Amino acid sequence: MDQLRIALPKGRLLTDALSFLARAGYPFSDGVERSRRLLILDQTKRLEAVLVKPRDVPVFVEYGATDLGIVGTDVLREMERDVYEPLLLPFGYCRLSVAAPADRPNMPLRLEPSPRVATSYPNLTQRFFQQRGVSPEIILLSGSVELSPLVGLADLLVDMVETGRTLRENGLVELRTIMHSQAALIANRAAYTLKAEAMMAFINDLRQAITEKVSEKF
Ligand code: PRP
Repeated sequence: MDQLRIALPKGRLLTDALSFLARAGYPFSDGVERSRRLLILDQTKRLEAVLVKPRDVPVFVEYGATDLGIVGTDVLREMERDVYEPLLLPFGYCRLSVAAPADRPNMPLRLEPSPRVATSYPNLTQRFFQQRGVSPEIILLSGSVELSPLVGLADLLVDMVETGRTLRENGLVELRTIMHSQAALIANRAAYTLKAEAMMAFINDLRQAITEKVSEKF
């Protein structure tokens, strides 16, 4: 059967992605996360993984550099790449939210016709505000977005919230949820057909691991 190549996101999804793949029968050796190697092979030699930034996962998959990828649905909706999405995965649960300083939560939405909004999700943010008749001025950042209202860079921010700890520790409150997110398996459209047998076998292994994980909770 064809060997498959998968793009895995470096960062907070990686640990869960690796343990989920191990549970599905594709264990990578310990220490992969700490190593600087970017191309790794699982112990069964059926799956090769490349480690890339989360936002690059859909790019690798769309161009066929990898057959598959694991990425958050937040990144998928923001990037709008032409990839197939065969399976949602049971980890990486978080939400994309609008937040503001706790001492003036209503000010920007009520009084500002064009609030300044800091985010690393410009497309989802623009769409959310425009659907509500608001034209935000988007300040594009690539990290530490929560800092922006605290130093006068923006009125509001839009960012991922998982535990809510980052917001709390910076005196911010959530105003609205834009979308809920979780990990998803994505596939290159051509590879999905050309390597159908290997793809189906891999997806079935993942489905089995999802069923086991869900049934463990009951
Ligand atoms: C993410 C996100 C928030 C934080 C939310 O940042 O951007 O800052 O996690 O998590 P919490 O609700 O559990 O506090 P990440 O640590 O991935 O780094 P980043 O600032 O580079 O985005």
